Amino acid sequence: MHDMTMTAKPWAGRFNAPTDAFVEAFTASVSFDQRLYAYDIQGSIAHATMLAQQGIVTTVERDAIIAGLEAVRAEIDAGAFNWSIPLEDVHMNIETALTARIGEAGKKLHTGRSRNDQVATDVRLWLRAEIDVICLEILRLQTALLDLAERELNTIMPGFTHLQVAQPITFGHHLLAWFAMLERDYERLIDCRRRLNVMPLGAAALAGTTYPIDRHYTAQLLGFERPAENSLDAVSDRDFAIEFTAAAAILMMHLSRYSEELILWSSAQFNFIELADSFCTGSSIMPQKKNPDVPELVRGKTGRIFGHLMGLLTLMKSQPLAYNKDNQEDKEPLFDTVDNLKGALRVYADMMGNITCHRQQMRTAAQQGFSTATDLADYLVRRGIAFRDAHEIVGKAVAFGVREGRDLSEFTLSELQQFSTMITDDVFTVLTLEGSVAARDHFGGTAPNQVRAAIVRARVRLQAISAVQ
Ligand code: ARG
Repeated sequence: MHDMTMTAKPWAGRFNAPTDAFVEAFTASVSFDQRLYAYDIQGSIAHATMLAQQGIVTTVERDAIIAGLEAVRAEIDAGAFNWSIPLEDVHMNIETALTARIGEAGKKLHTGRSRNDQVATDVRLWLRAEIDVICLEILRLQTALLDLAERELNTIMPGFTHLQVAQPITFGHHLLAWFAMLERDYERLIDCRRRLNVMPLGAAALAGTTYPIDRHYTAQLLGFERPAENSLDAVSDRDFAIEFTAAAAILMMHLSRYSEELILWSSAQFNFIELADSFCTGSSIMPQKKNPDVPELVRGKTGRIFGHLMGLLTLMKSQPLAYNKDNQEDKEPLFDTVDNLKGALRVYADMMGNITCHRQQMRTAAQQGFSTATDLADYLVRRGIAFRDAHEIVGKAVAFGVREGRDLSEFTLSELQQFSTMITDDVFTVLTLEGSVAARDHFGGTAPNQVRAAIVRARVRLQAISAVQ
């Protein structure tokens, strides 16, 4: 049981009857928004500091408020705080606890403020900090990918289109494709962070406040770029949450694609790689099994993040200005998105350093499926044959190889010459896997020296980012 001073609702004045017990539980958000407490307190301390600077509360009151809030924070940190459902949310729980501690001064904290601008501020502060953590995890994963790409610079594997063997590539090059996706994901999050780093406080309930507040000062105290321009917009829009979730959904989509490849590659049929035992589990019935659970789970979790994006878009779409209680529903999808995204990035960054490559197996696979057929066509073009004609010639050679069960590199010179008299014995360097990848020797190509140069450039970019992080 709570005593009455702890549970009396701050808005009780207008009401004659108590809230229905079920409605109270139904409308409360404290079970989940308590997660915002540190940011709620940070926002309140900045608000009280501004109120004192503007002469709206005294410096003595300000000091009592700050000391009280810090004591409440310590109590919550220690897990000793008694969260009350009748007090609805994190904001009223903390304010009520503050007043219970310091008396009259606590009642002045909410001057010139509303829970509407307060919650919008809390969520932005929280998400800004989470984006910073997520960005560090992306950098860690990117570094792991570069290390692996460097190790597998010369490893040849089949490149696929339509999941059919297309042309030989280096595994390092493939990993740099993953890296490139993450680079854009990182930028999207930084961009989102820049737009959300604007302060709602001072918008109060919706129209602003009659007190002589200094929003620029509060914004500065909280590290916001500036106060929001429009009070109605400041309390009501959650586009920043949608934008973040969209960036998270795209990032998860990328991780899901990596997952799909890791799952395929670690199957007995591909057998390109082996994930470390510590990232796999066995089967309770089939003793031989080693399952790629981590990538599978990441692929699976991608679905719920897509769902959160759709949920948040739908949450927002019919809301008239300004604040509506609907917005309370922004938190759980956001929290879940952040938790799962951080988890997926963390486990991926850890797992990448623990991948064993079966290089011989990758090489053998690259030799199948006539992966150097394009190289032969390009060779004929260099001999003066038009590309379309060269394509036709090689197509016939491949058909012959299919019938014979042999790769182009296994043909004799005279067999090859049946398809074109332009072919001479220098053709065999072109038909090797090493010759094929080395020939794609331009910016962005798969040749090992291009991949090496790309890794160097990528490391320079990462270092530049880490320096400002
Ligand atoms: N728990 C609320 C939310 O998350 C806080 C704001 C409540 N404001 C209000 N006028 N009921 O949105």
